[in-house]
Amino acid sequence: MLTRAARLDDLPAAYRVCHETGLPDDGSPRSPELLGHVYVGPYLVAPGARAVVVVDGEGVGGYLLCARDTRSHEAWVEQHWLPGLRVDHPLDFPRSPADQEIVELLHTPAIAPESVVAGFPAHMHIDLFERLQGRGLGSTLIGDLFADLAREGIPGIHLGVGVDNAGAIRFYGRLGFVELMRDASAVYMGRRL
Ligand SMILES: CC(C)(COP(=O)(O)OP(=O)(O)OC[C@H]1O[C@@H](n2cnc3c(N)ncnc32)[C@H](O)[C@@H]1OP(=O)(O)O)[C@@H](O)C(=O)NCCC(=O)NCCS
Repeated sequence: MLTRAARLDDLPAAYRVCHETGLPDDGSPRSPELLGHVYVGPYLVAPGARAVVVVDGEGVGGYLLCARDTRSHEAWVEQHWLPGLRVDHPLDFPRSPADQEIVELLHTPAIAPESVVAGFPAHMHIDLFERLQGRGLGSTLIGDLFADLAREGIPGIHLGVGVDNAGAIRFYGRLGFVELMRDASAVYMGRRL
């Protein structure tokens, strides 16, 4: 098993990790590429992003994705990433509720609250296939990320986690993330670096 900087040819496999680890609990169908358009693609392409993948004998089995400066990242996504996707995925089109939820995010992206970004300008996403979970890999990858960002002088990092993902919330808490705020669907957590 190895961990390395992500390459563009990792995109399909990283999208698959995102899709399969993010499937809706209620089993409702979701198109395989939609979630990755929001949570993976830009982090392998945008300037200022830091993307690491974990590779084992079965291929890419996980990633840790980070935008060093959330506001610049949001602006790049708005200008370069979303316009074409909005044309291909119009809001008004019959599709499953799970797909509609993501298409709405393409048209109205989640913008991190100013109170979060002010102290914690970077943000991250991590997902590992089940075969790579529970072996300390997530903690190690995030520890390395903290060290890199701190060396670069970035003061803090935040993330959003589903309110129902109690295991992940506990996991982040152990790594020093504290809850900053929450809404009906997500908890924002931050950690100083
Ligand atoms: C959450 C995740 C990144 C954690 O990475 P990991 O490599 O499995 O975590 P580690 O092995 O470093 O675990 C550290 C600790 O957190 C616990 N933990 C991690 N994820 C957990 C979960 N989902 N439920 C319960 N406990 C969890 C581990 O049991 C471990 O506890 P221990 O040190 O007392 O044994 C990984 O499990 C994952 O990708 N899960 C599925 C997708 C997901 O939920 N992503 C986060 C979306 S915000």
